[in-house]
Amino acid sequence: LRSTHARELASVASEAFDFVEVHPENYVGRGGVFRRLLDEAAERWPVRVHGLTLGLASSEPFERSYVAELKSFLDRFRVPYYSDHLCLCAGRNAHLYDLLPVPWTSAQVATTVQRLRELSDALERPVAVENVSYYATGLGDPVDEATIIAEIVHQADAALLLDVNNVYVNARNHGFEARDYLARLPLDRVAHIHVAGHLIRPDGLRIDTHGEAICDDVYTLIGEVAARTAAPILLERDGNIPPIAELILEVERLRTVIAPPSVIGAA
Ligand SMILES: [Fe+2]
Repeated sequence: LRSTHARELASVASEAFDFVEVHPENYVGRGGVFRRLLDEAAERWPVRVHGLTLGLASSEPFERSYVAELKSFLDRFRVPYYSDHLCLCAGRNAHLYDLLPVPWTSAQVATTVQRLRELSDALERPVAVENVSYYATGLGDPVDEATIIAEIVHQADAALLLDVNNVYVNARNHGFEARDYLARLPLDRVAHIHVAGHLIRPDGLRIDTHGEAICDDVYTLIGEVAARTAAPILLERDGNIPPIAELILEVERLRTVIAPPSVIGAA
């Protein structure tokens, strides 16, 4: 639910999409027109909540007052699970407004599992962890990262938010096979799927901008993933935002990829 589109929703048919997703950082503790527009949207669609600032791989304590407010927000909109990223995004209360990857060591795994359990207890609902895109090299074998994510999800009894575009962007940038990575993930734990478009720089580096249409290769991957899980799929768009009608066309193409129309033969 982008503020860019919030006012347009009144003219959108309810069946155009099945749910809306919001970043809680834009709403928790705030009122005003956008909160009212969220309340109106929530009367028509289920709300899912995806955080940007809790840095699930961090070792710093949570800000308890924020987590308490977040829980009330999730309760208010009857959100069944919370999601955030397997990354660092703050240090000593200095927020970097980025999702920074970590090298996965056994100590890091233990820290992350503990943090996930603590957050899930505080929010009184499951937490889904999202794989991030990253550009640093030398963080370890990315395909092993998938095994480590599986281990974290298993140990913490957490869910997985699988970002298929992030897997694809990392695979192309770091030279591994996206399907090998996906094969190591516990797809039975996927609670939610993200998909988006990305930018290809002139030097070939792919940047996870969420500012383009989904590319054909990612449509193929999402079709393969969707055949193995019934998790809801969110189309993310964070930059270069087109009119909502254009995004609804992308949602319609996604529907055809995840549920191909029946083919009726004749003899
Ligand atoms: Fe995502």
